[in-house]
Amino acid sequence: MAKVKILVTGGLGFIGSHTVVELIQSGFEPVIVDDLSNSELFILDRIEQITGSRPEFYPYDVCDPEKLRAVFTENKEIKACIHFAAKKAVGESMEIPLTYYRVNLVSLLTVLDIMKEFEVGNFVFSSSATVYGQPEHLPVNELSPLQKSLSSYGSTKQMAEDILEKVSETGWLKVLSLRYFNPVGAHKSSLIGELPKGIPSNLMPYITQTAIGIREKLTIFGDDYNTPDGTCIRDYIHVADLAKAHVNACNYLLTRTDTSPYDVFNIGTGTGNSVLEIVKTFEKVNQVEVPYITGSRRSGDVESIYAGCTKANKILKWEAQYTLEDMVKDAWNWEKSYRKQIK
Ligand code: WQD
Repeated sequence: MAKVKILVTGGLGFIGSHTVVELIQSGFEPVIVDDLSNSELFILDRIEQITGSRPEFYPYDVCDPEKLRAVFTENKEIKACIHFAAKKAVGESMEIPLTYYRVNLVSLLTVLDIMKEFEVGNFVFSSSATVYGQPEHLPVNELSPLQKSLSSYGSTKQMAEDILEKVSETGWLKVLSLRYFNPVGAHKSSLIGELPKGIPSNLMPYITQTAIGIREKLTIFGDDYNTPDGTCIRDYIHVADLAKAHVNACNYLLTRTDTSPYDVFNIGTGTGNSVLEIVKTFEKVNQVEVPYITGSRRSGDVESIYAGCTKANKILKWEAQYTLEDMVKDAWNWEKSYRKQIK
């Protein structure tokens, strides 16, 4: 029987590539569209090494309707789309907001237009916990009110959720928006992982690059928050767990007929850890030192957030499996293996 094809935009990126691996291992046939603007072609070889199967790949920009139309024409078996392709650097989004709005929204609208044309009505959206701002109650659940986003990046995620909800109400589209908390770690094989360009803005790649000696020291952004050790609290989730949530989301969309046209799910572990806990766990598990200093707060950071995931547990039958120890170990193994390879 022909396998169900899933279009994965941004399928060579950090979360995209791990999701492609999980899709293949779950019996789907991913079709990747990725313009390589923030990813590397060798990741395709690595996906093949891990899974024994080389997915169909198109080096296209999803903002180009003609190119996208060609992908759908050549892949009539596409039944759903997981849409990762987007710009994602919070700081950069404040410097070039127009680019963020254009890329993140035009890509979404173009993918939706072409899906409608080809009557493909299942969509999994890559959203973010950033839509909540600082919630009043923790853990934060999907019913919590959204707060006006401080960054243009966050604002594109809120707008995209809104667009998807409205379009789904017209009847041809079913959408699951997955609100990711803080994805970290790497595939167990150390063949794929996070590849930040330039100086990392996220915590985990900054830690691994410091541990390996590329960065002199980590700056912890503020130790005067109202938390047990004074540093910010986040819900870190292993990227392989996050990838599995996408597979469950596809299965749910493709097998259930009684679902609402639009739904949102938190995808986290349900546990909050402080920045200092992450650094200490990294050092202990990997037996490596991470030199750090404490600096001032980073503007826009919320003090504390972690996910209530009972909805995803119940409805998507999904639960995070990996521990914080796994996350820091896999992130470190990937950093070491990647540096060895590019030497
Ligand atoms: C985590 C914690 C920092 C770097 C953002 C986006 C979110 C998602 C993931 C996607 C915070 C602290 C960090 C450093 C530090 N985006 N930190 N020193 O800000 O929670 O979430 O990335 O692609 O949508 O908003 O993640 O990893 O930047 O920070 O002390 O050098 O680590 O202050 O408390 P964040 P992060």
